[in-house]
Amino acid sequence: MPKPVTKAIFPVAGMGTRFLPATKSVPKEIMTLVDRPLVQYAIDEARAAGIEEFIFVTARGKSALEDYFDHSPELEQKLIDSGKDDLLAELRHTYMDSGQIAYIRQHKAMGLGHAVWCARRLIGDEPFAVMLPDDVIAAEKPCLQQMVEAYAETGGSVVAAMEVAPEKTKSYGILDVSEDNGTTVKVKGMVEKPAEGTAPSNLAVIGRYILSPNIMSHLDNAKEGAGGEIQLTDAIAKEISSGEGVHGFRFAGERYDCGSKSGFLQATVAFGMARPDLRDDLLDFLSDITAIQAAAQ
Ligand code: G1P
Repeated sequence: MPKPVTKAIFPVAGMGTRFLPATKSVPKEIMTLVDRPLVQYAIDEARAAGIEEFIFVTARGKSALEDYFDHSPELEQKLIDSGKDDLLAELRHTYMDSGQIAYIRQHKAMGLGHAVWCARRLIGDEPFAVMLPDDVIAAEKPCLQQMVEAYAETGGSVVAAMEVAPEKTKSYGILDVSEDNGTTVKVKGMVEKPAEGTAPSNLAVIGRYILSPNIMSHLDNAKEGAGGEIQLTDAIAKEISSGEGVHGFRFAGERYDCGSKSGFLQATVAFGMARPDLRDDLLDFLSDITAIQAAAQ
């Protein structure tokens, strides 16, 4: 039985330039999907998977993100006094116990691999999860929990994976598969953002990882890869031949790329529709607006 996964790294140092001007003063991870910040979805998913230590790799301009996890005694008292129990429960749901959350600074934007490596001292010799909050996954059983269960069988390292259209492979880490067992695949190679026409498959890595601590040693001597950045994909690829093996995991669920405007809008509609208090209004609106658009064409 592999060691349990109780630590997760959340790389949140990116400047979010695709969402300018909003991200001029609001960290991307605090942007709101229905009524909660993107990062809260990742935290809820991590908790469901048994994560107990939350390590955020941040950068300048991210203080609103750190504040988000603070306790708010005044607000709490106000909600108690006014008997707003539902909102009080929502508020308390965002709290972390003291010492459960840590912030590390990435001083220079040198890539995802470098961001993860910044947390090496807090990880030590334990397996760990990496969660990219931009990738929001709607699933009956939270994605990381599915992966923790798969990892209990496979050990080594496990990366979330899904098929993408061939013309999209250049935007992802892509798996080269040696054995396809359906839900899990054995990986024999990984390429970060392969040039068009060179991808070894169309099975793409999505932002959920369970990694062996060996990955941190691979990152110790990492060289720049795709885009001139230190890539996490390259460090995981080293683990295939010299370590405990790498598995791809086809998760059950719907992934939204909230790092893109169109993905964020799609997620907003999908998560809105999944909410009983919003569904009917939203559906009426969508059918009206699509009818109007169709008529205008
Ligand atoms: C990162 C990873 C890439 C992965 C992707 C998933 O890329 O480097 O391997 O496929 O996340 O969202 P990014 O989207 O940050 O460029």
